[in-house]
Amino acid sequence: MSNLFLLISLFSLLIFHPFIIRSEVLPLHHGRKGEWRLLQPSIGVSAMHMQLLHDNRVVAFDRTDFGPSNLSLPGGRCRYDSNDTALKVDCTAHSVLYDVETNSFRPLTVQTDTWCSSGAVSPNGSLVQTGGFNDGDHAVRVFTPCDDDSCDWVEYPVYLSRRRWYATNQILPDGRIIIIGGRREFNYELYPKNGDPYSASSGSFWLQFLQETRDENENNLYPFVHLLPDGNLFIFANTRSISLDYNRNTVVKEFPPIPVSDPRNYPSSGSSVLLPIDENRAIEAEIMICGGAPRGAFAEASQGNFVRASSSCGRLKVSDENPSWVMENMPIARVMGDMLLLANGDVIIINGVERGTAGWELGQSPVTRPVIYKPDGSPDWRFSVMSASPRPRLYHSTAILLADGRVLVGGSNPHRYYNFTDVEYPTDLSLEAFSPPYLSMEHKPFQPLILSVDEILKLGQPFTLTFFVPLYLSESKLSVRIVAPSFTTHSLAMNQRMVVLKLVEVSRLTPDSYSLTAVGPSTPEIAPPGYYLLFVVHAGIPSCGSWVKIQ
Ligand SMILES: *[C@@H]1O[C@H](CO)[C@@H](O)[C@H](O)[C@H]1NC(C)=O
Ligand SMILES: *[C@@H]1O[C@H](CO)[C@@H](O)[C@H](O)[C@H]1NC(C)=O
Ligand SMILES: *[C@@H]1O[C@H](CO)[C@@H](O)[C@H](O)[C@H]1NC(C)=O
Ligand SMILES: *[C@@H]1O[C@H](CO)[C@@H](O)[C@H](O)[C@H]1NC(C)=O
Repeated sequence: MSNLFLLISLFSLLIFHPFIIRSEVLPLHHGRKGEWRLLQPSIGVSAMHMQLLHDNRVVAFDRTDFGPSNLSLPGGRCRYDSNDTALKVDCTAHSVLYDVETNSFRPLTVQTDTWCSSGAVSPNGSLVQTGGFNDGDHAVRVFTPCDDDSCDWVEYPVYLSRRRWYATNQILPDGRIIIIGGRREFNYELYPKNGDPYSASSGSFWLQFLQETRDENENNLYPFVHLLPDGNLFIFANTRSISLDYNRNTVVKEFPPIPVSDPRNYPSSGSSVLLPIDENRAIEAEIMICGGAPRGAFAEASQGNFVRASSSCGRLKVSDENPSWVMENMPIARVMGDMLLLANGDVIIINGVERGTAGWELGQSPVTRPVIYKPDGSPDWRFSVMSASPRPRLYHSTAILLADGRVLVGGSNPHRYYNFTDVEYPTDLSLEAFSPPYLSMEHKPFQPLILSVDEILKLGQPFTLTFFVPLYLSESKLSVRIVAPSFTTHSLAMNQRMVVLKLVEVSRLTPDSYSLTAVGPSTPEIAPPGYYLLFVVHAGIPSCGSWVKIQ
């Protein structure tokens, strides 16, 4: 509470010194092309998988069979694994907890192999992380955040009914998590299991679509999955996509294949987002998929011929009666890009390479410039190219949205081990932040600051929040958005979704503070239960996100 009073007294000063004081609150920079900042030269492990939790800490991990990382496990702890292909006694960490607010990290202990695994945050705020390789391929691991430094992974090595290596997870309206596919697994299963969770028979459900869409190397890995407002799942693999009723195990609809016939899933890794769902108009759902690599590019790259990646994006309004793809071209071709929804509803496409595919040593020509896409912009002005990071982010790099609107970027390891020397693209252990143009100085007068908001939002229930903004334009420039933070790995931001809440009214409290009434998401199909970041967006400029829990 005292913090709030301190902030309010600062705000009165803001009128006279708006920029000086705000710079203490949010990162500031100049310019329309965004700004990169190195946060940590090394967190000891390579951030192959990342998830933001509701205490603004990020769980990051790579794999246990990479050899020794650059960070020791605490308390003389070690991992003994006679089957490990790299190191049988490993006293180094392969997972860390990074604290965004203090820019510090500590090692976590993971015992089973997390390589190419998947995850989702359960409604109670614990990260439920599934599968991987070798001794980890049937594992479930739970990380529950804590106030001190005591929490660590809790592992259940034989929970899953099938091997889940390169699977995709999605949180469901009832709070369960669905785990779909994985290499040579043409089926899905649920967490927690029905009945006895440890019975191997409480099982998986066949999904023919995954068998049909695999390529000549059995790959259509990390299928793109999005929960649709009608409760069905959109599943995309390579070029085809369906709407699946997972409860009845039936395909409700098959959509037309994406027209530019480049495959889009691993190893031709494109990326995918569900564009923001807007509760202020009739509910629609639209998917956007960008990048990928032509058929055969993987085999070509294995022979040293790095084929140019795909530059095409497709949008499909899946809620239409007869949807069809609308295609556009990105200014830069890209494979292994990460697509993320930014706090204002724009889409950023970040990381990846211009030639080759996913896989060991198979990518060339890193694309260090992110691109921002405005979904509602006029057709000629939707894409803008951002400034370049000094660090290439190839295979096994990740990006996630942070509460302050920045994008946290880490990872990149195209090698079988930690290779720091004698390679063109060394294993990267750093963390960087990209600040989109909306965080630049010139936008500060329009940037809202949330003063108060309920911690719990109920479905369909009105709530009020108060905010401050130096220069208020009009209600038509205002929106309230909630974002479910993603579990990002291999160019896929699982579970990411944004809902634009229904805005009822705005009223002025003082010359520069306001109160607004909005309505919680109308159904759990639109916003499954759990923690979301709530942003007030004014004239395209987002506030810092406040954590809210949807019940
Ligand atoms: C390993 O960590 C140390 C600091 O603990 C750092 O100086 C070094 O650069 C790191 N190595 C790599 C390859 O990042
Ligand atoms: C090594 O692998 C074998 C065969 O899969 C298994 O029986 C054994 O338990 C494994 N050992 C360890 C330490 O995981
Ligand atoms: C939260 O949910 C996870 C996953 O189901 C479970 O393992 C964990 O014990 C729960 N945490 C609490 C505090 O209930
Ligand atoms: C990476 O390091 C390993 C182990 O030190 C080595 O065997 C391998 O050749 C290196 N990879 C490359 C691409 O240099």
